[in-house]
Amino acid sequence: MSQFLLVTDLDNTLIGDDDAFQNLNDRFTEHRQRYGSKLVYATGRSIQSYQRLSQRLPMLEADVLITSVGTEIYYPDDRSASVYHFDEVWFNSSFHYWHRAEVEAIAQQFPQLIPQDEGEQRPLKLSYILEYEDVHILPELEAQLAEQGIEAELIYSHDRDLDILRRKTNKGSALAYIRKKLEFTEEQTIVCGDSGNDISLFSENPMGIIVGNARRELLEWHRDNLDDQRYWAQAHYANGILEGLEHFSII
Ligand code: GLC
Ligand code: MG
Repeated sequence: MSQFLLVTDLDNTLIGDDDAFQNLNDRFTEHRQRYGSKLVYATGRSIQSYQRLSQRLPMLEADVLITSVGTEIYYPDDRSASVYHFDEVWFNSSFHYWHRAEVEAIAQQFPQLIPQDEGEQRPLKLSYILEYEDVHILPELEAQLAEQGIEAELIYSHDRDLDILRRKTNKGSALAYIRKKLEFTEEQTIVCGDSGNDISLFSENPMGIIVGNARRELLEWHRDNLDDQRYWAQAHYANGILEGLEHFSII
C-alpha cells in the first residue's frame, strides 16, 4: 500500500521494547518520506504526561495527538517543536453536554473508586483505580449515572484503570474526526492497541493490529467481534505492529 494513516496507542503497544520501537520508527519514517504517510498517537495519557514521555524517549513527531482517551486532540506547531495547538472544536462538541461535578459526586459514593493522580483528571475524563475484584460495582455505578440522565461511558483497562467519559467521546470517535480532517479513508487507516481503552479504535476502524501482549479485556472483545481485517500479532509491542504492517503488506 502507498500512503496510509497509522494510529497507535503508546503504552504497551508502541512502547515497551526499545529496540522494536526504534526499528518501527525508522521503518515508518522511511515510508513517511516516500509516500507521505501520517502518524497519530492515541493515548490515555494527558498532554503533559505525553510531553514528559517524549523527553525520555525518541518519539517521532506525530501529525496529531489524541490524548486523555480521546477527550482532547492536539496538533504540533509547524515551526516550534513541543508546542501543541488544542482542538477547541472537538473539546466543545462534548464539554457543553457534560456534567462533571455530578459524575464526580456519584463516583464518590463508591469507596472502591480511588481517584488517580490529579494530572490525569481532565475536564472530560475522570479516572479512578478500581481493583479487579471490585468490578461488580460497575453496573450499579452505570445505573446511578443513567438515573441522573448522564450519558457516560465507563472504560476499564489493565484490570485497574477506570475512566468515566462522556458517551461517544473516546479514542474511536476522535479517530473518526481526525481521519476525516486528514482526508484518509477507513481502508487507508490502521489502528493499533493493547487494552480496553483501545476497543473504540478497533470498533471504529476495521483494519487493526492487536499486539501479542494485549490485555484480556481487549482479547475478549476481539473474540466476540471477530473481523478478518483485524490481526492479532504474535510479537509483542512495536514488533507486533511491524508484524501486522507486514501481514497487511503495508510496509
Ligand atoms: C492512561 C492514563 C490513565 C487511564 C489509563 C486507561 O494510563 O494515564 O488516566 O486511566 O490510561 O485509559
Ligand atoms: Mg496501552
